[in-house]
Amino acid sequence: MVGIIGGSGVYDIPWLEDAVELISENEYGEAKLKKGHVGTIEVVFLARHGKTHSIQPAVINYRANIKALYDSGARNVFSTYAVGAINPKYRPGDFAILGQFIDFTWGRNGTFHDRPGSVVHTDMSEPYSRKLSGLLKNSLQELGQHFYEDQVYICTQGPRFETPAEIKAYSIIGADVVGMTGCPEVALAREFGMNFASLAVITNFAAGVSSTLVSHQEVLDIFSARMETVSEILRLSCIGISAI
Ligand code: HPA
Repeated sequence: MVGIIGGSGVYDIPWLEDAVELISENEYGEAKLKKGHVGTIEVVFLARHGKTHSIQPAVINYRANIKALYDSGARNVFSTYAVGAINPKYRPGDFAILGQFIDFTWGRNGTFHDRPGSVVHTDMSEPYSRKLSGLLKNSLQELGQHFYEDQVYICTQGPRFETPAEIKAYSIIGADVVGMTGCPEVALAREFGMNFASLAVITNFAAGVSSTLVSHQEVLDIFSARMETVSEILRLSCIGISAI
């Protein structure tokens, strides 16, 4: 079973065959899933922000989502994000495969090991799976897309965008792209030992990187212009699972 977590702009997977919707309940809450397959590969899809983009980054139930994917049998997960470019050389519309994260969020439930007596420190040397990232890379190359590999993603709390001073600081500490939902999602998946890889669409220049202001509409517009390609990258990458 392959899991897909769709971010901004990805509220459905059109190529999912024999798709059925279901609600998965666990001790953390409930998650809406869509299960189907592509050829012989079983796929389960979850829209992180809900189908109508009604759940803002800080209140997403990341634990319920990851546990629901785990319970449905997903051990390999692809996730998508809209991100702002901190690096001024990047262009909106380009893709990024994530390699590391810096977590600037606060107050989110970031572990499954929060019960008294349960002390577990999960290794985060390689948060994103090389094998799955390799599948994303193959798919991007097959489709002739421009992309950046091994990107450092900084996760901010949102829902507001950043100030130019914050973005300058994030640039100095090594971030390439910025988003609001990558953390704690990937760390939670790693706590369950799931392989996780992330495809980001660069939707805008982060605050202060260009002279234009950052708008959510711009983020959604650029993302929807790339949506068909995102969907195809995910399809090819899911099919590629059978070879690894
Ligand atoms: N900042 C934070 N999150 C984002 C951005 C941004 O500029 N663009 C898309 N998601």
